[in-house]
Amino acid sequence: MRLLVTGGAGFIGANFIMYWLTAHPEDEIVNFDKLTYAGNLENLASVEKNPGYTFVRGDICNAEQATHVMKGIDTVVHLAAESHVDRSILEAAPFVMTNVVGTQVLLDAALKANVKRFHHVSTDEVFGSLTLQGTEKFNEQTLYDPRSPYSASKAGSDHLVRAYHHTFGLPVTITNCSNNYGPFQFPEKLIPLAITNLIEGKKVPVYGDGLYVRDWLYVDDHCRAIDAVLSRGKVGETYCIGGLTEDVNNLSIIRKILALMGKNESEIEYVKDRPGHDRRYAIDWAKIYNELGWKPEHDFDTWLEKTVRWYMDHEEWWKRVKSGAYAQYYAKQYTHTA
Ligand code: NAD
Ligand code: TYD
Repeated sequence: MRLLVTGGAGFIGANFIMYWLTAHPEDEIVNFDKLTYAGNLENLASVEKNPGYTFVRGDICNAEQATHVMKGIDTVVHLAAESHVDRSILEAAPFVMTNVVGTQVLLDAALKANVKRFHHVSTDEVFGSLTLQGTEKFNEQTLYDPRSPYSASKAGSDHLVRAYHHTFGLPVTITNCSNNYGPFQFPEKLIPLAITNLIEGKKVPVYGDGLYVRDWLYVDDHCRAIDAVLSRGKVGETYCIGGLTEDVNNLSIIRKILALMGKNESEIEYVKDRPGHDRRYAIDWAKIYNELGWKPEHDFDTWLEKTVRWYMDHEEWWKRVKSGAYAQYYAKQYTHTA
C-alpha cells in the first residue's frame, strides 16, 4: 500500500510515520509537508534513509502540488493543519486557509486520483465545551459547537470531508481525538512548554484559574487508533478517540510535572486567561472500542513521566525549536500576567 501522510513533519505526523513504517514495513509512505514553524524534518531523522519513506515539500492549498503528489496513492492520512488555539486567536486567517481551504483542495485531488481511503484527523474541540460540574462526555453524536478560530476551522474541514463522501462518494473516515502528548511535540503546547520552561529555569504559565480539563491521549495510542480505523473502520464513519485520564485539570498536570522534576509551586505563574477558553473536554471512546477493538493502553502517570524524561534527554532538539521565530511568538503571547 502507498500512503500519503500530510503534515508528517509535525508532532503526530512524525510519530505516525515512525509507527507505520515499523508496523507495516511492506508499505510506502510519502510525507507531504509545507514545513511551517511546526514542521521539522529532524523529527524523522530515524526513518529518512528508510527506502519506504519519501519526503515532498509542498502546500495542501496548492492544487497543482496536491494533484501531483496524489498520483499512485491508495490511502491519505490527512494531518496537515494549523494546530494551536492561541495562535488562532492572534491570527485566524492561516487557520481558515490551511484547515478549510487546504482540506478542500486535498479532497479534490484525492477524488481525481481515485484514492481508496481518505482519512481525516480531527479534534474533540469541534464539540465545544463541557461543564466542570457535569459528567457528560463527547461522542460521535455530539453536535458541533466550535468556539475558537482553530476549532471552527477544524469543524469546517470535517464538514467538507463528509460532504465529499455524500456528494461525490469519496471513501472517507474521520477521527476526533483529544489532546495528544509525547515525544516531538512542539513546545508551544502545555506539557512540552511546561517541561522545557522548567529545564530552562523559567516559570510555567497557567491560564486563568488553571482548573481547565482536557482528556490526554498518548500519541502512540492515537497512531494505533488510526491504524485500526484504516484497517477495520467503516467508510463514511466517524470515531472518537480518547486516553486514560479522568478529569485531570491543568494545575494537577503542572503539579505532577513539578514533582517529577523536583520543583515546587513557586515555579507556577498565573497569567491572563485565554479568551473563550473551553472549560472541559472529555471523550467517550466506546464506539471505536466496541466496533474496532481499540482502546488506549498508555496510562497518564507512567507516560507523562516518560515524556518528561524524553524532553530532558533531547535538549538539543527543543532548544533549536525554541530559538528563532518561536521566541518572538512567546514574547507576544505571554506579555500579560494575571
Ligand atoms: P503540528 O502543528 O505539530 O504539525 C502540523 C504539520 O502540518 C506541520 O508539520 C506543518 O508544517 C504542516 N502543515 C501546516 N500547514 C500546512 C500546509 N498548508 N501544507 C502542508 N503541510 C502543512 O500538529 P499536530 O499536533 O501534529 O496535529 C496534527 C493534526 O492532528 C492536526 O490536524 C490537528 O488539528 C490534529 N489534532 C491534534 C491534537 C494534538 O493534541 N496535537 C489533538 C487533536 C487533533
Ligand atoms: P494546549 O496545549 O494549547 O491545547 P488545547 O488548547 O488545544 O487544549 O492547552 C492545553 C490546556 O492548557 C488549555 O486549557 C490551555 C492551557 N494552557 C495553559 O494554562 N498555559 C499555557 O501556556 C498553554 C500553552 C496552555
